Amino acid sequence: MQIQMDGRSALITGGSRGLGRAMAMKFAQAGANVAITARRADVLGETKSEIEAASDAKVGAYVCDVCDAGQIAAMHESVSSDFGTIDILVNNAGSAVRGKFEEVSDETWRDDLDLKLFAAIRISRLVLPKMKEQRWGRIINVLNTAAKAPHAENAPTAISRAAGMSLTKVLSKEYAPYNILVNALCTGIFVTDLWDRAYNNQAPDMSFEQFIEERGKGVPLGRMGNPEEYANAACFLASDAASYITGVALNVDGGTCPIV
Ligand SMILES: NC(=O)c1ccc[n+]([C@@H]2O[C@H](COP(=O)([O-])OP(=O)(O)OC[C@H]3O[C@@H](n4cnc5c(N)ncnc54)[C@H](OP(=O)(O)O)[C@@H]3O)[C@@H](O)[C@H]2O)c1
Repeated sequence: MQIQMDGRSALITGGSRGLGRAMAMKFAQAGANVAITARRADVLGETKSEIEAASDAKVGAYVCDVCDAGQIAAMHESVSSDFGTIDILVNNAGSAVRGKFEEVSDETWRDDLDLKLFAAIRISRLVLPKMKEQRWGRIINVLNTAAKAPHAENAPTAISRAAGMSLTKVLSKEYAPYNILVNALCTGIFVTDLWDRAYNNQAPDMSFEQFIEERGKGVPLGRMGNPEEYANAACFLASDAASYITGVALNVDGGTCPIV
């Protein structure tokens, strides 16, 4: 099956690094035009150039902190004016925040919900009207397997992700009549900057390669995933090939999650 995304425009939050970058690259190579957002302009600029060099896509880079409703509105206006309708939205920007329940402050809870839940709500609300008009759209919410199977000391992230799973289901039902498909990806462990940061905090006494190998041993497939494998799943869900799939939270995790 050849996946073609010609003529589509995709907005990927957190598209400058890691999984977001891999999805933007994959979509662009499948023929879509891509708009990427993140907070750091220099990193965004580098990724924009790399995607342009590796594809024929039109690529736009937009500085936007998705925790800020005003910045979201301004970013949406710029992307819409540059790209027209946003056909595909990937709510990906995020980070790992977890701790002992009694030590998680209100501020940390609020920040996590702003980043992982309200950003998806606010951006979806802005892109849906045009998707409705054209009766075609895709929203993919990047979550984590903790949305289905949380651990101890997994707050606030597991709770924010579970809410994201419910948001996915609600939107999938509400917008199915408009041929707007809304799905989620429940992410396992993938080698990105997120793990670079974890390595620096948790295991500075071993090499990064050893750290990644050790972490991968707990995954049924025996290794951490690479971002391109993740992007393959997203590319399928964003394409016409997935035309009868909506309201699904797909585990992309090498078999880790105990819940299907
Ligand atoms: N990698 C994993 O193992 C894993 C596991 C479970 C879930 N996830 C989820 O998958 C998503 C991508 O993770 P990743 O591993 O690719 O992380 P990453 O390599 O750290 O990349 C995160 C991206 O999001 C952007 N970002 C972070 N906060 C932002 C904000 N407030 N506003 C706008 N952009 C923001 C970052 O750019 P700036 O810093 O420049 O803003 C960067 O482009 C996240 O939602 C993460 O929680 C990842």
